[in-house]
Amino acid sequence: MLTACVSQQSALHPAGWEAERVDILFWVMVAGGAVIFVGVIGLLLYATRHHTRRKVHSEQAAGRLIVGGTLFTIATLALLLGYSLWLMQDLRPWTLKEGESRLEVEVTGEQFWWRVVYREGEGTPRVITANEVRLPVGERVNFILNSADMIHSFWIPSLGGKMDMIPGRTTQLSLLATKPGTFRAPCAEYCGTSHALMAFSAVAMEPADFEAWLDARAAPSPAAQGDGHDAFMRQGCGACHSIQGTQAAGTIGPDLSHVGSRVSLAAGILPNDEESLTRFIRNAEAVKPGARMPAYDMLADDELAAIARYLKGLE
Ligand code: CUA
Repeated sequence: MLTACVSQQSALHPAGWEAERVDILFWVMVAGGAVIFVGVIGLLLYATRHHTRRKVHSEQAAGRLIVGGTLFTIATLALLLGYSLWLMQDLRPWTLKEGESRLEVEVTGEQFWWRVVYREGEGTPRVITANEVRLPVGERVNFILNSADMIHSFWIPSLGGKMDMIPGRTTQLSLLATKPGTFRAPCAEYCGTSHALMAFSAVAMEPADFEAWLDARAAPSPAAQGDGHDAFMRQGCGACHSIQGTQAAGTIGPDLSHVGSRVSLAAGILPNDEESLTRFIRNAEAVKPGARMPAYDMLADDELAAIARYLKGLE
């Protein structure tokens, strides 16, 4: 039970404006439920102890209970509904105020990973990445959500509520991080074999750090050439993956420019090191059943090691 106390993925440790509202609603509900529970148990004890001695007219008492119970339930539920509807108006993208959303991030759910695109205006993407979302603290971010295949659900519990990602349809979610930190975000809609192995990291950064990060990601990594690069190209990895500053321009799989600096590998399930890279390339299916990446177990150990070292070096 104590594992639930880790604040990395918890709606009860809010680090965002929306999550704070959800947290308040939760505690209001818990407090209300506790008061009602104590009241009902108290009445029950009272009724069982005193009823027989006092000879209350049972029909009259029953009538009072029915009317009282019905009115109390209606009033309580109506109050809670009104309160949550009032809170909800702040949690939906159509309440965005004029000019409030400066940054838009497109996130697409794939077979079991996340495609992430930072765009400025209508133009070409400024940065394309995967399985990691970064956002500046104190600045509202509008997430434009799509899906390539199944229904997935975008959910960063520490920052706010969830939103479905539906094929052929664009949904939106706006979030405002209030504290810096790294949070875990699981896929929240069953989407196939590796649904439970589909997560991403959300990193809330100070605005200046975020800008510096975006600028660094917009340029190719200095380590984009070399032995590992040659092996990567020779094995045809570039047919599915892109690496900025190289001939690799595939778009089927995750973009690997700067992959070495990501918080995790394989959409939140492996630590980002050479060993995990080797393991995943050798047999992706064994790590993540249903993933579309084929096994490369025919590669010689030294070639595989060179590719893993190369990818880890792309920071
Ligand atoms: Cu994607 Cu569940």
